[in-house]
Amino acid sequence: MDFTKKMLRDDALSDKVIVVTGGGSGLGKAMTRYFMELGAKVAITSRDLEKLQKTAAELEEETGGVCLPLQCDVRFYDQVESMLAETLKKFGKVDVLLNNAAGNFIAPTERLSANAFDTIIDIVLKGSKNCTLAFGKHWIDSKQESSTILNIVTTYAWTGSAYVVPSATAKAGVLAMTRSLAVEWAKYGIRSNAIAPGPFPTKGAWDRLLPGDLAEKFDMAKKVPLKRVGDHQELANLAAYLVSDFSAYINGEVVTIDGGEWLKGAGQFNLLEAIPEEMWDQLEAMIKAKKNK
Ligand code: HXC
Ligand code: NAP
Repeated sequence: MDFTKKMLRDDALSDKVIVVTGGGSGLGKAMTRYFMELGAKVAITSRDLEKLQKTAAELEEETGGVCLPLQCDVRFYDQVESMLAETLKKFGKVDVLLNNAAGNFIAPTERLSANAFDTIIDIVLKGSKNCTLAFGKHWIDSKQESSTILNIVTTYAWTGSAYVVPSATAKAGVLAMTRSLAVEWAKYGIRSNAIAPGPFPTKGAWDRLLPGDLAEKFDMAKKVPLKRVGDHQELANLAAYLVSDFSAYINGEVVTIDGGEWLKGAGQFNLLEAIPEEMWDQLEAMIKAKKNK
């Protein structure tokens, strides 16, 4: 099977202007590349302008599209407002906000300083709130007919997870915001959806979540029923669909793309996978022998 195949037709996003926060690296970069291949104009934002400029030049060269690098720390509302203004100045409009920027690292919660906890909450929850509020106000004030917010969350947004508690807390808030605004802002033509990715190897995530030899010790693929990690293009395909008009009736949804990973940890009897195939005849006989006794 070829997981790297591209899903939508070539001009599927040709009328769209998209802002991708954290678009200079990892999954944000992969989604930006595909949006540009589909004809979208994309502004990528993060704290590191040099990195953004390098990515923008690389993607423009690769795709022949247009990419605007903009420095913006999503923790600060005034920087988000400036980033929106710069995007409007360059492209005249904006159709999609992709809240992808995030911060995370593993740590026992009792080891965290108050500032460490705040740092993650500020990037993930406050940052997504800042962008959502600024873009939402703009769309409502300018009476734009249709627009879309797509938030990148995680599967532990609804289960919680030990050792990444600030991230889990923040992503749960982003998920609640996604569903709340899907109802409240639908009357303004604003759709609100989320993607919950399972493991998709990126330098940013792996350096902070699986440092040193942890990546070998805890092979993420082994936790996934499909026995593999995700390919960036698979996520890009889903994101492109969710920001396109093909998904115009999808609103308030969180789409999980994790090969079944989170459910594997959830089902009470999933551990029976360890039973060898040849043992099932014996077990069936034992269960049936108990009938009517
Ligand atoms: C304990 C830590 C720490 C660690 C930082 N801190 N790392 N505490 N353990 N490993 C503390 C610092 O001591 C400081 O607190 C506070 O956190 C802020 O740290 P700074 O380095 O000053 O912050 P900053 O420069 O703003 O960097 C933010 C960051 C960094 C989050 C700490 O890692 C970053 O820039 N991340 C961005 C990219 C990222 O994280 N990508 C991964 C997303 S993956 P004190 O009290 O000392 O001042 C993801 C996927 C999840 O979300 C699912 C995967 C399957
Ligand atoms: P990544 O490359 O580290 O991406 C995070 C991005 O956020 C970086 O480009 C970073 O850029 C930006 N960022 C961090 N703090 C910021 C701030 N204050 N203001 C603006 N931008 C900021 O990691 P990734 O794996 O691609 O993660 C992308 C998204 O996917 C995140 O939302 C993450 O939670 C989610 N996710 C990833 C996985 C996975 O397996 N990779 C799984 C589930 C969910 P700068 O450092 O330049 O600011």
